[in-house]
Amino acid sequence: MEIKFFGNDRQYQNLKPEWNKAVEKVWASGQYFSDSHVLELEKTLAQLCGRKYAVSLSSCTDALYFALNSSQAKKTLVSNFSFLASATGILRNAGAPSFIDLKDGEYSPSAREYQKVLNQDNKVDSLIHVSLFGECALNFEAENFAKKNSLFFIEDSAQSFGSYCENRPAGNFGQASCLSFDPTKIIAGTSGAGALLTDDEEIYHNTLRLRLHGRDSRNGEFQHLGYKSLLASSEAAILLLKLKYLESYIQRRREIAQEFNNAFSSNPFLITPHKNQFLDEEFPQHVFHKYVLTVKNSSRENLQKYLKGKGIETRIHYPKLISDEKLFGLESQTPNAKAACETVFSLPIYPELKDEEVSYIIKAVNSYFETL
Ligand SMILES: Cc1ncc(COP(=O)(O)O)c(C=O)c1O
Repeated sequence: MEIKFFGNDRQYQNLKPEWNKAVEKVWASGQYFSDSHVLELEKTLAQLCGRKYAVSLSSCTDALYFALNSSQAKKTLVSNFSFLASATGILRNAGAPSFIDLKDGEYSPSAREYQKVLNQDNKVDSLIHVSLFGECALNFEAENFAKKNSLFFIEDSAQSFGSYCENRPAGNFGQASCLSFDPTKIIAGTSGAGALLTDDEEIYHNTLRLRLHGRDSRNGEFQHLGYKSLLASSEAAILLLKLKYLESYIQRRREIAQEFNNAFSSNPFLITPHKNQFLDEEFPQHVFHKYVLTVKNSSRENLQKYLKGKGIETRIHYPKLISDEKLFGLESQTPNAKAACETVFSLPIYPELKDEEVSYIIKAVNSYFETL
């Protein structure tokens, strides 16, 4: 059996008639940017996340940079364990990152880790809180910390769209939230796609200007240097279509994650995602954008090879600290993040996985550990 890590091809097959109709409508209209689909997508995202404004962009990477640009931030706290793009906006904005450790047993920093660094550096003016793998359980605590310390708070919810913290959705925290709809995400576009969400009118207008050559939409003047970060109308049409299925996608991901957890939680070599993340159906705490196991006793690479031999594609998110990437090349003291880099292991998870494939993955993982 061959099981790929992503299921976009299957999703296309399942949605083909609706998908083709939606994009054909756009192509026939001749309006490929800024059409009614783009406006409707922005309205839908703002509603889903309880925000006044949503600006669609060509990536979450741009959203993070534009949010920092609005803040004029110079020194920004950011998790050392994430995809690199969580921190590149800081450099694009000519600021400096300060890399933060993870809370023990979690994939985000808590107030404690932020406070430790803040105590040593009074130049810090902002914080990008990254919520990874499909949950945002520490968002509320991080937002409170930022408020208490007057830090500009940016939420990187590229991976947690659809999840909740304290009954508030990801995308609802801080001065600006940044979402991604690139092809690896729960709502997967076909190219680059992202959004910036905010309740602040100034941030909204600055983002609109940065999105299109510095042009102010209120008077048409080009006020400062901007970029070209428009979302294509056809992409917006596909995202709107997929958003109709968001709940069922999340439900199926949670169902598969539950199966994995049931199968692996008693394995002494594995640590599974927390059990309490399944409790709330109405406000899902975890939407399993990724299913990430901790593999103890450095058997991860062998497990990956073994599963590859069985036709199962797996990934490591993330093998390296951001501070260790050549682009940053900074010293950091983030032992929990370092330990995560050495032990995390992602299994395929997507709504289109069939029951027999889930069973096959479980059997293959279990059979590997029987060989030890
Ligand atoms: C945590 C995180 N932040 C930011 C990004 C950047 O998103 P995009 O690819 O839409 O620019 C990603 C993309 O994978 C991500 O995982």
